[in-house]
Order: sequence, then structure tokens, then C-alpha cells
Amino acid sequence: MSDFKIAPSILSADFARLGQEADDVIASGADMIHFDVMDNHYVPNLTIGPAVCEALIKHGVKAPVDVHLMVKPVDRMIGAFIDAGASFITFHPEASEHIDRSLQLIKDGGCKAGLVFNPATPLSYLDYVIDKLDMILIMSVNPGFGGQSFIPGTLDKLRQARQRIEASGRNIRLEVDGGVKADNIAEIARAGANTFVAGSAVFGARDDDDPNGYDTIINELRQQLADA
Ligand code: DX5
Ligand code: ZN
Repeated sequence: MSDFKIAPSILSADFARLGQEADDVIASGADMIHFDVMDNHYVPNLTIGPAVCEALIKHGVKAPVDVHLMVKPVDRMIGAFIDAGASFITFHPEASEHIDRSLQLIKDGGCKAGLVFNPATPLSYLDYVIDKLDMILIMSVNPGFGGQSFIPGTLDKLRQARQRIEASGRNIRLEVDGGVKADNIAEIARAGANTFVAGSAVFGARDDDDPNGYDTIINELRQQLADA
């Protein structure tokens, strides 16, 4: 049985109503909340930090919060997001001077740990740390912004990452982030991904024509996955 998870990225949500937006996508069937942390240093954009993560959880978000750190350095933010109640914490290997230590910090804090690979970042970073991973996140756009187009070469990288996971024998989620839509999610699943970040596809789906747009899009994504 496939174990597909859909993780709407709140980067594309209405930040003035973030708690309600998170509640709404979970009520519409999403599995977790993808939380993009950008620092205007590692990536050219600035978003939200641990206080917002903590506020969402205090507000009542029970679904796992999947924190994607696009910050440099990473270790202080790892501690802050452990304290804020994150479930998954992933970071980019280029942003840490000591990747093994950063992964261990996440695990010592009781969170699930993951590494994120930019389109041009080699998977060889996995060689010595795959035994510490609960998640591998393959970027299918260059990080920094929502609403970009899926880079097709990512499919091959997903297949390679899937092979590495199978060879490790470990239970590691394979997540994909960037440009995931209803018309490409099936192909992405066939390449081996089982966890799908979708920002603009989900949060752009609700409007006056379809006030239940989050239900519509999440059902559509699930239907595509069922047929994949
Ligand atoms: C990009 C972020 C993504 C972004 C995806 O740096 O990591 O999570 O929100 O947005 P879409 O799904 O619109 O490409
Ligand atoms: Zn992300």
C-alpha cells in the first residue's frame, strides 16, 4: 500500500489568517503543514520563524508541522523549532558546517530529521548520514519562492534517491517541493516520491467560484495519486 502524504506549504497561505488557513487545509484532508523558513541570506526571501510555528500549534494545529529551514547557519534555528513543537526539521547541507551534528541535534530534540537537496546539489551528501535520516527532501525548484515551475530533471533525481532509500532498508520519507500540481503529481509519485509539498496549487485553489477549493484540489491530488 502506498503511503502518500500531502503537505500544503503555508508560504502561499493568507498570512493574516494563518491559523484558519492551516485548519482549513487539514480539514480538507491534508496530512501535514509544510513550514518554509527563509532568512534573506541563504535564500533571497524572508518569511516566518519559530514564534509563528509555536503560535500555530497553540492555536490548535494537531497535524505534524514539517519545518523546511532555508537558513544559514542552521543550528540555532534547529533548537528554536524543537522548542516550538516542530515534528520534522529539514535543512540544506550547504547551510551547515557540520551536517552530522545538525542532524543529531534534531534527533536529540525528539524531531524527525531530514536533508534537503537543491536542484544542483549532489545526492552524495547522503553517503555517510543516511542512517540518521527520516526524510529526504528533493527540491524541484530553486528555493526561495512559491509559484515556480517544476524542473523536469528532478524526476531522475527522485528515482536515484528512491534507490538509495531502498538500499538503506530504512523507513525514510521521500518528499518533493516546488511546482507540484494536479497535472504532474502522478508522474512525480511514479518516480518514487511519497510526500508532496504543494503551495500555490493548494492555496490558490479557493476563490469566489469555488469556496471549497481546498477540498477540490486535495481530492484531485489524491485521485491522481490513487491512479499513479
Ligand atoms: C520554495 C519552498 C516551497 C514553496 C513551494 O522555496 O520551499 O515549499 O512554498 O511552492 P509551490 O508549490 O507554489 O511551488
Ligand atoms: Zn519548502
